Amino acid sequence: MRAVDIIMRKRDGKELSREELAFLIKGYVDGTIPEYQVSAWAMAVFFQGMSPVETAALTEVMFKSGTAMDLSGIAGPFVDKHSTGGVGDKTSLILAPLIAALGIKDPMMSGRALGHTGGTLDKLESIPGYRTNLSAGEFREILGRDGFAMAGQTRDVVPADRLLYALRDVTGTVESIPLITASILAKKAAEGADALVLDVKYGSGAFMKDPAAGEQLARSLVNTGAALGMRITALLTDMNEPLGAMVGNFLEVEESLDCLEGNGPADLMEVSLELAARMVVLGNKAPDPAAGRRLCEACLASGRPREFFLANIQSQGGDVPRFLELRGTYRSPYEGEIRAVQSGYIARIDAWKVGHAGIPLGVGRNRTEDAVSPTAGVQLHRKGGDLVEAGDLVMTVWAKDTAGLAAALPQLAEAVEYAEKQPVPRRLLLKEIT
Ligand code: URA
Repeated sequence: MRAVDIIMRKRDGKELSREELAFLIKGYVDGTIPEYQVSAWAMAVFFQGMSPVETAALTEVMFKSGTAMDLSGIAGPFVDKHSTGGVGDKTSLILAPLIAALGIKDPMMSGRALGHTGGTLDKLESIPGYRTNLSAGEFREILGRDGFAMAGQTRDVVPADRLLYALRDVTGTVESIPLITASILAKKAAEGADALVLDVKYGSGAFMKDPAAGEQLARSLVNTGAALGMRITALLTDMNEPLGAMVGNFLEVEESLDCLEGNGPADLMEVSLELAARMVVLGNKAPDPAAGRRLCEACLASGRPREFFLANIQSQGGDVPRFLELRGTYRSPYEGEIRAVQSGYIARIDAWKVGHAGIPLGVGRNRTEDAVSPTAGVQLHRKGGDLVEAGDLVMTVWAKDTAGLAAALPQLAEAVEYAEKQPVPRRLLLKEIT
């Protein structure tokens, strides 16, 4: 078999066999097939797509490039959630302690911020002392004891994806539905979860800009997952505006704690509860999402998820008293403001522009090796649908340095869209795909 023949077959729109995909991926991981050939193949996939059978085969081949987490000996059920990425999306930090308090375990392996999207690991690491580089043994121990553990992928979990995702990032091949599907599901299969809830985002701050493309991705994920024997459901949710009021690493941890204390913003609570309700159904604790949601609401009101969250911070090396002490004050000293330039309604605060402004601020990064700031970010005082007077405070902004602040402020001002008439409220949850 030769890589060039595989590239040409995909270029010409043919369906690749499992053997061809295994040859390509194995060769890439062991260094016998060079990056330039894999780049050419990825671009051919970008234009020609993949059949459902091919996508499932690629997912399996990628999954088998590494080792899966061994959760034997720990009592389940194991249910995880995965979001396709957004701005201000901190639902993972709310869901894991919530479902753990309901007796469902969440083996959560997350990623880092890249481009305009935030990363759960960067958020968690803004808590003084918190470690996400857990060994497999530590991961198992914390998961068994606390009901959830939150870590990054170890080197041996889906090495093919680590290489391929970095390559796609610099070759314009990220936004390919079969490649996204295989990348996400191979990692989730390796985590050891029995079931998965997917939060597929659409809108300016998402990979998929319109609902139809979001739905196509959701269907690809659900169908491929089902073909591989995973129990899986997907919600299609809006990412035209940042979720919640906080965008930034520590800021988002703080807002997650607000949610666990019953004081979260309405949009973030709504998306979190709808996702949690499905996790509870897949974890066999409720017969349907409505009953699952009631269970989650009652559990939040009990205060137990907050205790689970603080227990996990302690288990993963975080300093809980210091974390609580820093709440409301842990902010970068380089501070700015965005004020309304006209009176009327805010039509929306564009998620993509806020996410991109986060890069010079220090919330996100352009390259995987760049550092992020724990204390940079944006607080949105107003969102779409709110009435403002010219001069009202719309955002408070914290940057890692003065140059970052100067670069971000005009982008953030541009993110605010105005309307004379009250805009139609956004539908946060568009549909469920099972
Ligand atoms: N998230 C992933 O893990 N992989 C992709 O390809 C896109 C988003």
